[in-house]
Parts: sequence; structure tokens; C-alpha cells
Amino acid sequence: MLQKTVLLLALVTQVLMLENGLLRTPPMGWLAWERFRCNIDCDHDPKNCISERLFMEMADRLAQDGWRDLGYVYINIDDCWIGGRDAKGRLLPDPKRFPHGIAFLADYAHSLGLKLGIYEDLGKMTCMGYPGTTLDKVELDAETFAEWKIDMLKLDGCFSTAKERAHGYPKMSAALNATGRPIAFACSWPAYEGGLPPKVNYTLIANICNLWRNYDDIQDSWKSVLSILDWFVKHQDILQPAAGPGHWNDPDMLLIGNFGLSFEESRAQMALWTVLAAPLFMSTDLRTISPQNIDILQNPLVIKIHQDPLGIQGRRIFKSKSQIEVFKRPLSNGASALVFFSRRTDMPYRFHSSLLELNFPESKEYEGQNVFTGDVIRGLKSETNFTVIINPSGVVMWYLYPMRTQE
Ligand code: GLA
Repeated sequence: MLQKTVLLLALVTQVLMLENGLLRTPPMGWLAWERFRCNIDCDHDPKNCISERLFMEMADRLAQDGWRDLGYVYINIDDCWIGGRDAKGRLLPDPKRFPHGIAFLADYAHSLGLKLGIYEDLGKMTCMGYPGTTLDKVELDAETFAEWKIDMLKLDGCFSTAKERAHGYPKMSAALNATGRPIAFACSWPAYEGGLPPKVNYTLIANICNLWRNYDDIQDSWKSVLSILDWFVKHQDILQPAAGPGHWNDPDMLLIGNFGLSFEESRAQMALWTVLAAPLFMSTDLRTISPQNIDILQNPLVIKIHQDPLGIQGRRIFKSKSQIEVFKRPLSNGASALVFFSRRTDMPYRFHSSLLELNFPESKEYEGQNVFTGDVIRGLKSETNFTVIINPSGVVMWYLYPMRTQE
């Protein structure tokens, strides 16, 4: 009897677990929403409306301008692509804006070495009012996405009840598993429950989702970045342990390349999202992005830190009265990333500290690199006092590893 119960329990957890082996490091790519929203006016704005043309042009840029080779492989459709359902209830894209269908787009992405993501909503309608995936449609829609060769699904939660979500998200996770196609699962579930226990059970979420939105939508402003960051830091004791290989917190898209952030703020978002092991989904026009912003997004050392195989989310470890904060992310081989972040709005600030003060072990020596300037750091002892100069709303980011002791 006991044996049978154990077997049954094992089966139940297996069904509930998302065992797709995907996203061992946080995903990187491009997502349409923040920059292109629900612009469906292809008559007046054919270049920027949500259409297959937009996704093909962005896919071309990802493949040709170095993005794909650095790891930005996902090209993700968001809301406003749906045209309706056919007689059998199967989802159809808008025929005018996606005349060749979604399978065609997936093939196009795959031919360029990219992966295609899509969006649906577990409710009557998507947030913008397009047909949703009601509970009775979960399996059918999962099968449709798999047939189209989709690689990631973002399942939103507008127009759903808490009960429907508690049912629907595990159901979709199991349905995606059952298709046999590895489809990364991005859940918005926690964001619709306030993002915190007891309403949100992060152990369960991490078992059924590969990534999840915890909090508000990002908007194109520094104020929005700060409010998201503040929430993530305030609740880091809860959020930090929830992340790990295959399952990530998602503070939402990168704004870099758009209109709301200064140069310093852009670097800061890149550095902070990287130490938080957040998905790096750009949402900008890759056809017109400036070289300066490309440099921020394509910084190889930032990406190496972001993709560290240990997949440990960093934390804020220090906050001074002078409005300087320090974040640390532990990396493989004893290395770590430090981000010195200034919330000041006056002038570059000289911040004095030592690694010992930042809880590094005593009597060790480190080397590494200033990530954005490329300056080499050598012979930095835990006890050494150092000064970093941090611009207003800016960061200094270090990659550090312990020096090998001479044999
Ligand atoms: C919600 C999500 C956003 C975006 C929109 C689309 O607000 O949080 O990321 O997907 O819906 O309507």
C-alpha cells in the first residue's frame, strides 16, 4: 500500500514538474512588447506594427549584427498577434498582419539559428482583448504551439481568476510537457498574485515554470526601473532563493535603446539585471539602435557573468547613507561580480570601501576587470582600501576572482 502511494506521489510530482531541461542559464533575446506594444496600424506604420515583417526584420538583425552569437537567441512575439480561432477552435494569427502564419515565422527564426517565442493569456482575453486560452483550450493551444514549432510561451494572466490561474498554470506546464517539444514556459502567475507568499508558492512556481514575472510591467522610464529594483531588493530574501538553473525571476524587459534612459541609467539597468540573473530580453528597435547602446548590450564580460553556469541570483549586500549600494553575484570558480550603484543625482561620487567590508574572506588577493572600462584589477587584497568613482544613476561593475597562490 505504502509503495503504491509513494509511486503515485512520484507520478503526480512528475506530471507537475516542468522537466524540459531548458534555460539552465537565464534566457537572452528580444521581446516585442515594451517598444512596439499593440501597434496594429500597419496601414500607416508598416515598419513598426505587430506583424511578420517586424519579427522577420528583428530576426535578421539578431542574426546579422552579432546578437545571436552572443546568446540573444529568442525572438518573442507578445500580445496582439491573434486573429481568432478556426472551426475546430484552433488559434489563428491575424491574417493581414501574419499572412504566412506562425509556423512560417518559426521556420524563418530557426533557419537563422534563433528560437521563436509566443504569447497567450490564461483567461477570456489577453490583456489587449484578443482571444485567450480558457481552461478548456489549454491542451489544444499547447499542441498548436508545438505544431508551429514554438520555443517559448509567455502565458499572461489578464481576465483570469486566482482559481483559474491555480488550475491553469500547472495545467499548461503539463500540456507543454506532453507535446514532447521543449517549450520554455514563462509564467505571469506570481505577478497576478502580488508576487509574495503566502499567495505565491515559489517552490511550486519553480517546478512548473522556467521564468516568471513577479511584479509590475516595466515602462520606458528610469522611475519604472527604480520601482522594480526597489521591490526586488525589498523582497530579495524571498526571491533570491527561488531562482536557479532552469527557473528564473523576471523583473521584465531591458529598456536600453529606447527613449527613457540616459547612458548611465542604461548601463545601470544592464549591470543590475545581470547580477539579478534576470532574463535579458531587449525590447528596442534593432534596426536603428546606436553603437553606444549596442556596446552596453553586447559587452562580452557582462554576458559571461550573466550566463555563469552556477546560475545564482545576486543580492544587494550593502547600502550606505551616501546613497551608494553594492550588489554581489557569486560566480563559478570562486569568482564574483560586484555592482556599485549610485542613486545620487549630484555628481560623480568617490566611494571608499574594501572587499573585507563587503564580506569577502580575509587575507585573500583578487584580480579581475572593471567590466565597462576594461581596466584590469590586480593584487587587490581583501584588506586594501579602494575608491570607486560612480556617476549619478550609474554603476561601476567589477568581475573579480581570487588570485591563484604561487606554488
Ligand atoms: C501584460 C504583461 C505585459 C504585456 C502586456 C500585453 O501587461 O505584463 O508584459 O505582455 O500584458 O498586453
